[in-house]
Amino acid sequence: MSMDGDLIALVNKLQDTFNAIGGDAVDLPQIVVVGSQSSGKSSVLETIVGRDFLPRGSGIVTRRPLVLQLIHTPDGPSSSSGKFPGTGTGLSAGNPNRSVDSGSVRRSPRIGGLDEDGYLPNLDNTPTAGAGIMRPGGKNMNESNNVTYAEFLHINRRFTDFEEIRKEIENETYRVAGQNKGVSKLPINLKIYGPGVLNLTLVDLPGLTKVPVGDQPTDIERQIKNLVLDYISKPNAVILAVSPANVDLANSDALKLARSVDPRGLRTLGVLSKLDLMDAGTNALDILTGRTYPLKLGFVGVVNRSQQDIIQDLPMEDARQKEEDFFKTHPVYRNIAHRCGTKYLAKTLNSVLMTHIREKLPDMKARLNTLMGQTQQELNAFGDATFLGEQHRGSLILKLMTEFSKDFVSSIDGTSLEIST
Ligand code: GDP
Ligand code: NA
Ligand code: MG
Repeated sequence: MSMDGDLIALVNKLQDTFNAIGGDAVDLPQIVVVGSQSSGKSSVLETIVGRDFLPRGSGIVTRRPLVLQLIHTPDGPSSSSGKFPGTGTGLSAGNPNRSVDSGSVRRSPRIGGLDEDGYLPNLDNTPTAGAGIMRPGGKNMNESNNVTYAEFLHINRRFTDFEEIRKEIENETYRVAGQNKGVSKLPINLKIYGPGVLNLTLVDLPGLTKVPVGDQPTDIERQIKNLVLDYISKPNAVILAVSPANVDLANSDALKLARSVDPRGLRTLGVLSKLDLMDAGTNALDILTGRTYPLKLGFVGVVNRSQQDIIQDLPMEDARQKEEDFFKTHPVYRNIAHRCGTKYLAKTLNSVLMTHIREKLPDMKARLNTLMGQTQQELNAFGDATFLGEQHRGSLILKLMTEFSKDFVSSIDGTSLEIST
C-alpha cells in the first residue's frame, strides 16, 4: 500500500474517533469549480465524483450553488438493513452487521471515496447503479459497498438513487430560483454518506455570464461574480478553474477571477475542457505544459461528455474510455497522455489533498496527545471496578480510544520521518 493510502486510511480512522467525541480531526479543503457558463464545470465535478447526478447542459443550468459534502462514516450495515449509526454514536463498537473483513483489505479511499480508477463506488440499494454507472473491470459488490445514502438539507428523506438526486436538485432549483433562468445565492446542500467516502466538500457554482437573460437582473454579472468570490476567497478552497479550450485563454473568466483571490496561483488548478472542440490545426500543448499561464498546480486537459452524449445517455465509463482514446491517439497530446484526462485530474486532486493532510499532521498529533492525557485521567477515575450498563460502555469506549490514540501517535511518529524527505 502506498504512503498516501496509509495516510488517508489513518485520517479516516482518526475522523471516526473524533466524530465519536465530537469535533473534526482535520479540516479538509473545499474544492470549488469556477468558470464561464457552459465551460463544463458541472461535467468536471461529476466526473471527479464518478457518478452521474448533476444537472448539466447548454445554457444556464446550475442556478444555485450546490454544496456537496462527502461524509465518511464508520463501516455500517453491509446491506439493505436500513439502520445506520447516527452522528455522535459513531464508535458503535457492537455493530452486529459489521462485516468480518472490514478495515483489513478494504482499499484506501481516494479523493471523495474514489477508487484507484477515480470512481466513486456504487450506492447501496441502487438497482440502476449497475446500469449506467457500472465501474469497469468487473469489480465485485463488496468493493462497491462504500456509499450508503444521500441526504439533502431541505428535505427529510434519504436518497439511494442518483437519478432521483438529480431530479431533486432540479426541483429545488426551480422552487427557489424560479422557472426562467433566475439565479439564487441560496445553496442546495447535499450530503453523501458512506464508509468508502473521504470527508470532503465540493462546490458547484453558476457560471460567470455577461448579459442578463430571462428573469435575471441587469447586474447579473456582478451578482454571480460576488457569489463565486464568496466561495473561492476562503484560503481553504482549492479552485478548479475551468476554461474551455475552444475559447482563447486570455479571455478566461475562470483564471481572471481565480487570480484575484490567489494571485500567486498556489491553490488554483487549471482545467482545460472541450479539447475535442478546438479548431482543426490548433492545439493546447503550450497551455497544458505550463508555458502559457503559470499555475503551481498546473493545467489538466479533459474531454467531458458532449451534449449529444448526454442526450444519448452515454455511460460514464464509456465517456472515460472515449476520453482516454482521444488523448492516446491524438498526434499532439499522445506524448503527454499520461497527464491528461479525468483520471489524472482526480490523481492531482488527491495529491493536493495529501499535501494538505501532511501539513496538518503535527496539529492532529498534538490534539491527540492532549486527548490521550484527558482520557487516561478519566480512565483512572473509573478505576478497575467492573461497571454495568451505561457506565461500563463508557469506559469501554474510552479504552478503545486510548488504544487507538497510542496506535495513531506511534504511526505518525513512523510516517513523519518519511514525510520529511
Ligand atoms: P457548466 O455550465 O459550466 O456547468 O457546463 P456543463 O457541465 O453544464 O456543460 C455545458 C455543455 O457543454 C454540456 O452540453 C456539455 O455536454 C458540454 N461539454 C462540457 N464539457 C465538454 C467537453 O469537454 N467536450 C464537449 N464536446 N462538450 C462538453
Ligand atoms: Na451550462
Ligand atoms: Mg453547471
